[in-house]
Amino acid sequence: MKELDNIKESYISDMANVKIMDDLNNLRVNYLGKNGHLTTIMKLIKDLSVEEKKSFGVAVNDLKGEVTRGIEAKTEELKNAALLAELNSMPKVDLTVSSAEKKGSLHPVTIIQQRLINIFRGMGFAVEDGNEVETEYNNFEAVNIPKFHPARDMQDTFYLDNNQVLKTHTSASQNRIMKKYGAPLKVIFPGRCFRNEELDASHENTFFQMEGMMVDKNVSISNLIYFMKTMLSEVFGKEVDVRLRPGFFPFVEPGFELDCSCPYCGGKGCRVCKQGGWIELCPCGMIHPNVLEMGGINPDEYQGFAFGLGLSRLVMMTYGFTDIRNLNGKDLKVLEQTKIK
Ligand code: DAH
Repeated sequence: MKELDNIKESYISDMANVKIMDDLNNLRVNYLGKNGHLTTIMKLIKDLSVEEKKSFGVAVNDLKGEVTRGIEAKTEELKNAALLAELNSMPKVDLTVSSAEKKGSLHPVTIIQQRLINIFRGMGFAVEDGNEVETEYNNFEAVNIPKFHPARDMQDTFYLDNNQVLKTHTSASQNRIMKKYGAPLKVIFPGRCFRNEELDASHENTFFQMEGMMVDKNVSISNLIYFMKTMLSEVFGKEVDVRLRPGFFPFVEPGFELDCSCPYCGGKGCRVCKQGGWIELCPCGMIHPNVLEMGGINPDEYQGFAFGLGLSRLVMMTYGFTDIRNLNGKDLKVLEQTKIK
């Protein structure tokens, strides 16, 4: 039938022109809708003979089926095209590129500090954080260095406008710790310290220390030696000897420089210990009664020891750095040395 052929022809050309979903919906309405071509053409049926009616009906239904399937196929095609367009507009990520090249690592100071913390925790010490900006009182007065005392000259300090200071040593936290814990106490407090230094390979304006205090009844120099020897033997992974030499620090009496037998040559003399067989590592002493008192602890009842381990120095020794400035620098070769491969 001619009318049906015309519809089929126009359907094919209309379908070929469909570009977007809206076009397809219009096509659906135009052919299959209430007033669509394939609905209205059925009105012609009443003028046909019985025979013709039958074949006409079948032909219209066939075409309806073809249009319906054509619309379904086109819907799928348009959806896929939209998805592809969206994917193409996304930034390209190559999932096959390996990330192994850019693996990070902990900073050498962090690694050694963490190791020390683990050792001291194992010996029953609590771990505290200290302030980096401190009151002048905590940094000096509270550790027995009064205003205008010549001992202040030992540490050239950064003063802030509000009269506070960048802490010059971790000892600045001693007073706060004693007031927080009371006696007895066993605490370590690592931290970043600052001094106004002439910079060279062994002097930096920003460096790390780890302070420790133990206060109890009947604490003596023997306890100090025991803890230092145990700690250093753990750090170096082998038994080391320690020796004490007199040293002056206003907050300890008596005060010592604690040396450790060189773990690298066993005391025979090498580059690390500058042939001396001993390494100066950890100033320490018995806490001065004034310091205990200012911390709210009765010095007639309690004694204690304190130490200020040079963490930056220990890191340099462990990893063989010859310039302390490398620890604060941005040279990735420094981190390479401790990278977990
Ligand atoms: N605070 C001292 C400094 O930075 C180091 C020190 C010495 C700490 C003796 C102590 C100590 O706790 O007992 O030079």
